[in-house]
Amino acid sequence: MNDSYINGLLDFINCSPVNFWAVKSAVELLEANGFERFDAALPIGKCNAGDKFYVTKNDSSVYAFKIGKKAVAENGFHIICAHSDSPTFRIKPNPEIVSGVADGGCIVRLNTEVYGGAILNTWFDRPLSVAGRVMLRTDNPMEPKSVLVRIERPLMQISNLAIHFNRQVNDGVKLSKQKDTLPILALVNDRLEADNALLKVVAKEVGGEVGDVIDFDLYLYDTTPACTFGLSNEFISAGRIDDLSMVHAGLTALINSDELPETTQVLAVFDNEETGSQTKQGAGSPFLSHLIRRIVMAQGGDWDSYCRAIEKAFMISADNAHAWHPNYSEKYDPTNHPVLGGGPVIKFNAAQKYASDAQSAAVFAQICERAGVPYQRFVNHSDVAGGSTLGNILASSLPMRGVDMGNPVLAMHSVRETASVKDHEYCIKAFIQFYNL
Ligand code: CO
Repeated sequence: MNDSYINGLLDFINCSPVNFWAVKSAVELLEANGFERFDAALPIGKCNAGDKFYVTKNDSSVYAFKIGKKAVAENGFHIICAHSDSPTFRIKPNPEIVSGVADGGCIVRLNTEVYGGAILNTWFDRPLSVAGRVMLRTDNPMEPKSVLVRIERPLMQISNLAIHFNRQVNDGVKLSKQKDTLPILALVNDRLEADNALLKVVAKEVGGEVGDVIDFDLYLYDTTPACTFGLSNEFISAGRIDDLSMVHAGLTALINSDELPETTQVLAVFDNEETGSQTKQGAGSPFLSHLIRRIVMAQGGDWDSYCRAIEKAFMISADNAHAWHPNYSEKYDPTNHPVLGGGPVIKFNAAQKYASDAQSAAVFAQICERAGVPYQRFVNHSDVAGGSTLGNILASSLPMRGVDMGNPVLAMHSVRETASVKDHEYCIKAFIQFYNL
């Protein structure tokens, strides 16, 4: 067992409470390993074998490249993609909701909206805080200053209704996203004290005044750190395993693969997968295809070379898969039960919600075999709709061969998901093998 892989993952998740911080964590790892920042607004310059660089978009997606010995037009590129975002709650503008209490004091709640497909009840009764970014006033209206912010201490909680008020609570409860999931932030003496209560804490954290903060992208996160559990510490318990475990596996593989590979290696970490990918920093954006084209042209190629590069390329779209849950066997396909610890999972869907087909799955299976890693297959129970992911969305701008895969997890989109320690190591080994081919 490679402990550095699993400890690296736990650290990565703990340092990445939301999308912006996940990208910051990724950038720190890349820079520590010799990748240089490239600003997409500047000319790209030459792209020579062995060059290592990365680009960010909106500070919430990141694209890293290691240029291979063979020109991109000749050998294509090997790309792993994953996503930086996870289901959470976004803080609305003017969020403080003040309610009077009997003795004249007030209780302050925060107004939020749900981001992505969260299992709402898992967010109840646990210490939460906020992280994201704020925009500060500058002299240039077109360029407000963006500052990442994270309050580390627990700041709020979404509290359940006591069972005494709802004896049917264990028979299932329908939750309103506007009424039931508002977190409690403070007890104050009067309404004036509640004014900008959250913004005051956030402004202080970034060393400014409330008036300096023009706007924010702030989200809730669970302050309880990631950990392993189980008789032999064989499981991982953490928020955002989907998809930070795949982001971490891709990064670790990129950093540990050959320094001078035959084929150019690419890692793309998109934002907004959980809300459909249709943003400038999502997999539906042409941003990555533009970057690939710029690299091809920097190597002396033209439009024809770019199209040839896509034909030679191969994509691993890495997003977590559903592990077989022993309590709910009836929800799963009768003959395919990917289990925790059984290795990476190739995902198939007849309606092509996943990019995998026999050809791309055969490629990935042989990569796993070469890496000495077991692999599994997932299909939905035919009466269950299932999800979708990055692969086919990216294929609309980069129509390349590719497979949809991911490590198996339980309780996907819970505030705390469950994964396997062994699978993480398996996945990194398979990814390194892929990059080195
Ligand atoms: Co995902």
